[in-house]
Amino acid sequence: MNKFDLIKKEILDILPKSPLAFEQIHAKLVLEWVLKLKPDADEALQIAALSHDIERAITGITEKDLDDYSKINEFKKEHSIRSANIITEILAKHDYSQNTINKVKRLVENHEFGGDQESDILKNADSLAYFSYNIPFNLKRMGREKTKLKIQFMYNRLSDDAKNLVNQIKFLDKDIKILVKEAIS
Ligand SMILES: [Fe+2]
Repeated sequence: MNKFDLIKKEILDILPKSPLAFEQIHAKLVLEWVLKLKPDADEALQIAALSHDIERAITGITEKDLDDYSKINEFKKEHSIRSANIITEILAKHDYSQNTINKVKRLVENHEFGGDQESDILKNADSLAYFSYNIPFNLKRMGREKTKLKIQFMYNRLSDDAKNLVNQIKFLDKDIKILVKEAIS
């Protein structure tokens, strides 16, 4: 197995330790969306896609621990930094170049809010994966009101193009469809 395949496997093997049941599938979907949005995504962007939420599998901290949703931006920033530090350590162990390590670190640190072209791609892919898969799990774990706030966060941060892609997603579950409509219209 080459270094890139090994690192992807190591990340995917860690993710099921997360308290969130969707974690590993979510990561794979984010990578799929990244490759749809940018077919020539380099190794750094692909590694960032798989590992952007990796800290949850190590620390167990999730948004359920956030009592006051008005603090979501600080919470997300801290989550991003924790994930960036963890993937940095893993990459160093695999002897990745400092350039690649720095790039993955920056992308993971920026995945919630974007800020440059590739961080924006990762942020958009994260939301698209969220809308394609995570909502029923959120609803079960956090309840309707908190899930609605989460949906709004995941939608409002998007570029117009990515909002259009979200609007094309068909929600088969009627309750989810109503909830998403209420949240983003
Ligand atoms: Fe994510």
